[in-house]
Amino acid sequence: MSLPFECRDGVLHAEDVPLPAIAAAVGTPAYVYSTAALRTSARAFRAGLAPVPRKHLAFAVKANPNLAVLRLLAEEGYGADIVSAGEMLHALAAGMPASSIIFSGVGKSRRELAAALDAGIGQFNLELEEEGVVLAAMAAARGQRASAVLRVNPDIDAGTHAKISTGRKQNKFGVAIDDAVEIYARLARLDGLALRGVAIHIGSQLLDLDPLELAYSRVGSLVADLRAAGHAITHVDLGGGLGLSYRPGDVVPSPAAYGTMVARATRDWNVTLMFEPGRFVAGEAGVLLTEVLWVKPGAVVPYVIVDAAMNDLARPALYDAFHDFVAVHPTGARMVANIAGPVCESGDTFAMGRDIDAVSAGDLAVFRTAGAYGATMASTYNCRALVPEVLIDGGRFAVVADRIAPEAMLAAQHIPLWMTHDDE
Ligand code: LLP
Repeated sequence: MSLPFECRDGVLHAEDVPLPAIAAAVGTPAYVYSTAALRTSARAFRAGLAPVPRKHLAFAVKANPNLAVLRLLAEEGYGADIVSAGEMLHALAAGMPASSIIFSGVGKSRRELAAALDAGIGQFNLELEEEGVVLAAMAAARGQRASAVLRVNPDIDAGTHAKISTGRKQNKFGVAIDDAVEIYARLARLDGLALRGVAIHIGSQLLDLDPLELAYSRVGSLVADLRAAGHAITHVDLGGGLGLSYRPGDVVPSPAAYGTMVARATRDWNVTLMFEPGRFVAGEAGVLLTEVLWVKPGAVVPYVIVDAAMNDLARPALYDAFHDFVAVHPTGARMVANIAGPVCESGDTFAMGRDIDAVSAGDLAVFRTAGAYGATMASTYNCRALVPEVLIDGGRFAVVADRIAPEAMLAAQHIPLWMTHDDE
């Protein structure tokens, strides 16, 4: 197999399918995913963790909840890390066993907790003491004991973008690591809970393993303290977070380097380690295919106006994220340009003053590394369609999410048909 997104005979392909064929079949913009790339990254992450004896891998569904993607990852032996009942629905529908599901999330509603208990999911990651108390009562009322771990906030700066950093004490996630022993002791007494360990997640798109190792060493001390207090600690959830190279040439930690570090940092723990990778598994397996609408003169450099926008791929507007832009028919010529979408906001800009493949109106291009936090963060802003998703497998492709057109959104809206309630 050749690389998932590679130029062949002057045309960018997704596996063995030329991208113009996808544009002709489903239109643009469209997300295009490679099964081979998904399998390769899923296996690479697992292989990197070979030195870890007991582990459970749960794909962070938030990164890409497409049913076909989840089904493929289920085949690869991945469970799911979910943060809502909606994600649970997707994971179960994809065939992931309930027992493989971990429920993370700082704001689980009582209704969501009930749905997860009814489904019999594998583990709840508690974000605060009160959540544990409520869950214990709900589980006991059902004659269940809910397997749970306590998420701690180790107060570590992961060195990532502020909006995707989660392990500093001012962040909303977890309980302060210094309070964890006391909170754990109170929760461990509750009948409805089978409290079995702790969890952390310090941030996403992590490019440096040192903050992770520091976080793990703090968790190691906590595990020792909890054991000294008489608790049986059998599971530690290390969260997700391994970053990707979005800019050509960016150096990122390999799964092998990560696995070596994890094995070193956790060698005395004697627990089942749980991992929740999202971006690493899905990111490089997807591109956003787009058409150049116009090339417009700008004050400094021209604007390349594409038909994809911030509503389709929000990361540049939200996090100043870099997504490599490449032409589907590269000629070797280059240009310096701004790349922007049609949405009526100056923030709908993918790049400023970037050196890119020369393109003109009507050309196809892709934004790379868009398989994670791409389609799932899309919106219908400006009454734009929800972008479709296409999965490639060798020379075959399948539409795995339809374009949801404005007509469908309009059909779900209503001109008020006022009603009065009974006592009026
Ligand atoms: N586990 C927990 C508890 C998380 O909060 C997250 C991500 C993950 C696992 C997966 O992290 P990953 O392996 O993907 O780094 N929308 C942002 C990313 C938000 C990540 C939030 N939590 C972006 O596009 O960069």
